[in-house]
Amino acid sequence: MKEAPNNSIQKNALVIIGVTGDLSTKKLFPAIWHGHQTGRFEKVKVVGVGRRDWSPEDFNKFAENSCQPQDPTSSTWKKFCSGLTYVKSDFINEDLSPLSKVLQDCKGIIYFLATPPEAFPILAEKLSKIKVKGFKRLVVEKPFGKDLHTAEKLNTQTKIYFKDQVYRIDHYLGKGMVRNLQTLRYSNEVFRNIWNKDNIESVNIIQSEKTGVETRTEYYDQTGAIRDMIQSHLLQLLALVAMNETSNTKNSFLLKSQTLLKLKKPDSSDVVIGQYASYEKDVGHSSTTESFASIRAFLNIPEWKDVPFYLQTGKKLDENFAKIVIKFKKTKFNPLAPANSLEIMLSPEERVKFTFNLHDHDLNTLKPFSMEYCMSCEFRPNTPTAYEKLILDALNGDKSLYASWAEIRASWKYADKLLEASKANKLFIYQNGSKGPLEQVEKLHIEA
Ligand code: BG6
Repeated sequence: MKEAPNNSIQKNALVIIGVTGDLSTKKLFPAIWHGHQTGRFEKVKVVGVGRRDWSPEDFNKFAENSCQPQDPTSSTWKKFCSGLTYVKSDFINEDLSPLSKVLQDCKGIIYFLATPPEAFPILAEKLSKIKVKGFKRLVVEKPFGKDLHTAEKLNTQTKIYFKDQVYRIDHYLGKGMVRNLQTLRYSNEVFRNIWNKDNIESVNIIQSEKTGVETRTEYYDQTGAIRDMIQSHLLQLLALVAMNETSNTKNSFLLKSQTLLKLKKPDSSDVVIGQYASYEKDVGHSSTTESFASIRAFLNIPEWKDVPFYLQTGKKLDENFAKIVIKFKKTKFNPLAPANSLEIMLSPEERVKFTFNLHDHDLNTLKPFSMEYCMSCEFRPNTPTAYEKLILDALNGDKSLYASWAEIRASWKYADKLLEASKANKLFIYQNGSKGPLEQVEKLHIEA
């Protein structure tokens, strides 16, 4: 891969608290390794703090399993490993001052809390006491709290120690196509002019994954799909689709939160929840936690009057993807013509697909055809992955792709109502590897 040494940040450190968990394996280490290969993370010291009694070799092995380097004997991989340090600590109960020795040669520090939110205040307090030469910033994972009340408490408690240096991560905001949403809407006159209730029939925001809860049983069983995915990632996407145009970051925080505050109160008929068949076996006990949620939301905004926003997420389904589909209204000119649609694929590929109608002369019928562009299919070794981009931004003190407190507050206000509305609902059990409780989801769409 091409080296980009100019982007390197000298002698800063990324300290991951709770490093031995699933997040490091799946997202953080692959992101740091990608950044190392492109030269962007080369000079960043990576310090992992965990409870396990690991030797440096164990930590390197953990990194290797997470990053899957093509050649673990290569000098690039060895150099990467030489920048890794593991500190064994029961970080909730033990003093974290030994970290100051490990960090003494570093300028600025990013503390990344890959822990449950309950641990944020105590960790913020302990970490704030470590003397460092340069900046210190606290990056906290979602969900930020488990409801509005706990989120408010967390906000106050973390701010006491890190003031305006709290970075609330939502990795969907770092995804390439999500970063491109505003450009797609506003830098293309063809979409800009039709992005409203007069032309749009519905907005569909769907995330589907094949994996189940895996090793995150305790976390997930206390959280569920609505708190894990809808409160953060999917509501952020809704806000980005519906908010007004702006090129100013501060304005964007404001506009997103204002949009979220305009969500109408949902009732139980707006929510379908489900659980995959082997869920209870996976978590080891009986449970009413939803691993699937499909919701219908409306905005109290004139431009979006009566346009349903369908948000859906689920585990142990048949496919892995995240996408936004804008379904346009059917043309009045020809009632036989299917509606146009714009599909914005966020993952696994970054792709935009527009579907329109033509007359197929061979079959003598009107047929939908598509034009599409796959951005990620091009060889783009220097494009940072979502976590890589966001960690780099935190190192650079750029909060523009982080969630502001106003947005988190607004999305909890809505998510709390959603959780309340779903309480009385039946939990539909769906087959592993299926599309989820399809019949119920279809009803949700038909009844809109
Ligand atoms: C995380 C959730 O925030 O996002 C996980 O906690 C989920 O449960 C993941 O699997 C999905 O992210 P992505 O980028 O793989 O779609």
